Amino acid sequence: MIYLDNAATAYPKAPGVAQAMADCIEHAAGGPGRSFGAFGEGPARIVFETRQALADLFGWPDPTDIVLTSGATYSLNLALQGLLRPGDHVVTTGLEHNAVSRPLTHLRAQGIQITRVACPGGLSPEPGAFREALRSTTRLIAVVHASNVSGALLPLTEISAIAREADVPLLVDASQTAGGVPISLADGGPHLLAFTGHKGLLGPPGTGGLFIDPSLDVQPLCRGGTGSRSFSDEQPTDRPDRFESGTPNVPGIAGLGVGVRFVAQRGVTDIRAHETRLIDRLLSELGAVPNVSIYGPRAAEERVGLVSLNVGDVDPAEVGLRLEREYGIITRCGFHCAPWAHESQGTLDRGAVRLSVSPLTTEEEIEQAARAIREIAAHAG
Ligand SMILES: Cc1ncc(COP(=O)(O)O)c(C=O)c1O
Repeated sequence: MIYLDNAATAYPKAPGVAQAMADCIEHAAGGPGRSFGAFGEGPARIVFETRQALADLFGWPDPTDIVLTSGATYSLNLALQGLLRPGDHVVTTGLEHNAVSRPLTHLRAQGIQITRVACPGGLSPEPGAFREALRSTTRLIAVVHASNVSGALLPLTEISAIAREADVPLLVDASQTAGGVPISLADGGPHLLAFTGHKGLLGPPGTGGLFIDPSLDVQPLCRGGTGSRSFSDEQPTDRPDRFESGTPNVPGIAGLGVGVRFVAQRGVTDIRAHETRLIDRLLSELGAVPNVSIYGPRAAEERVGLVSLNVGDVDPAEVGLRLEREYGIITRCGFHCAPWAHESQGTLDRGAVRLSVSPLTTEEEIEQAARAIREIAAHAG
């Protein structure tokens, strides 16, 4: 099997992820801050070390500003619902995933105004478009770092500078970039960074987190037991406890820690170079093939490790099925939980087939995938 659906979830995971999770169930079953002695200390250490590894990866000095969550969807909801109030205005893009567009659509009904910066062709907007969209009531700029549909990478440094200059917090959905594209939270980076554990960080599903700049007043999305200040019926104000109610997913966090350390050891710059090389190869193999329409930026450097395409008038579901049945290649077809992005890209009527790589994908696998698509395209007339 050739697995090219890493933008949905990475496979395989980093070496050691499954073992760390199993060890945790067997030997570190207590709740951090809740169980006595070694039973509670093991889990507490696992959570501490994973949080520290994430802070190191993103270049942030204080790990307590990193909230561990069930994934990017929870993190984005926490940021959007914890910050925005009726009357606020938010600037976002036409490339957002449903993890941003659905909470925003919900918030619009509560009096939040939204400006969606246009992204024709599924391409990144010019950074200046964010400045032009600002109003006196703008409370947040919320952008995806890279589209999970077109692959377009947005210029984070420029957008961060515009947000800082306007004194408006910037929320970044790094679901498609954490682990695959260098991200620095220090020196004028975003105020909020939502990331998932099961894609570029090569960890298990149901893990992820949210960086929250300590200057921001974000309300928790959920309140309850934190294993701290248990005598009080008020939600603690300390970070990260304020945002982490309920017994944490320690086995998942253990697996995530292994993934993050693997990525850090290999080096995000090295991973980025590897994935850019693979995508460059795929684009050059398929770029001139009659009947194949490739969406998003032309240059591999302007994208993350994914390519969306269609073959003639063939239903993307049929292309995906043929790739799997006839060639053993796993891709993802359809709408990728991102109707805004498909609308921007011009594929809301039919969706697309998406191929996405990981640090463990090889050139040979890309070669085989390109050959399979060329054959399908040739027979499609
Ligand atoms: C751009 C983007 N945002 C958000 C998400 C949601 O991530 P999670 O599965 O961690 O909730 C995804 C995952 O598909 C994504 O690609």
